[in-house]
Amino acid sequence: MQIVLVLHNLLRWGVLLFGLLTLVNAMTGVFGKRKYSAGDNRSNLLFMIFCDIQLLLGLILYFSNAWFDRLKDLGNNMKDPYNRFFTMEHMSLMILAWILVHVGRASVKRAGTDAAKHKRMLIFFGIAIILILVSIPWPFREAITKPYFRWFN
Ligand code: HEM
Repeated sequence: MQIVLVLHNLLRWGVLLFGLLTLVNAMTGVFGKRKYSAGDNRSNLLFMIFCDIQLLLGLILYFSNAWFDRLKDLGNNMKDPYNRFFTMEHMSLMILAWILVHVGRASVKRAGTDAAKHKRMLIFFGIAIILILVSIPWPFREAITKPYFRWFN
């Protein structure tokens, strides 16, 4: 499981890199009235791919590291911030972000004009990135702290 945890930790930087690139593209698209380019499409595709990989790795961790089993004793586990975060909050908010990324990409494809495409990118991916940023167990979040970079020990 160590390898899955290391990958899940490190690939979050890929999610953030392409997520923020997509956001910058959306903003320069909306405010600079740019054409929707192949670069815009590439950045949001890569953002989606990294989110897909994180979902897969996250599900493996969730079911194999006993987080799922904690659902059986939900009452007691909800009282503990660490258990509550990984049993419920992290999983559900990240899945919501993942859904927004997928629905957003389909919606961008369907939009009729370049302006509409950029606007949809900004809304869907913008909300998804906010959800992802607040759901990451950053080292500075005391109760749920995890390292910026994990390696094998
Ligand atoms: C964009 C999506 C996601 C990002 C950026 C992300 C990021 C992270 C990070 C940085 C950690 C800490 C890893 C460490 O301890 O070094 C973590 C832990 C974890 N994540 Fe995610 N995650 C995402 C999606 C998910 C999803 C969808 C699930 C479950 C379905 C999930 C389940 C978990 C679990 C169970 C842990 C705790 C692992 C353990 O210590 O046993 N993650 N996640």
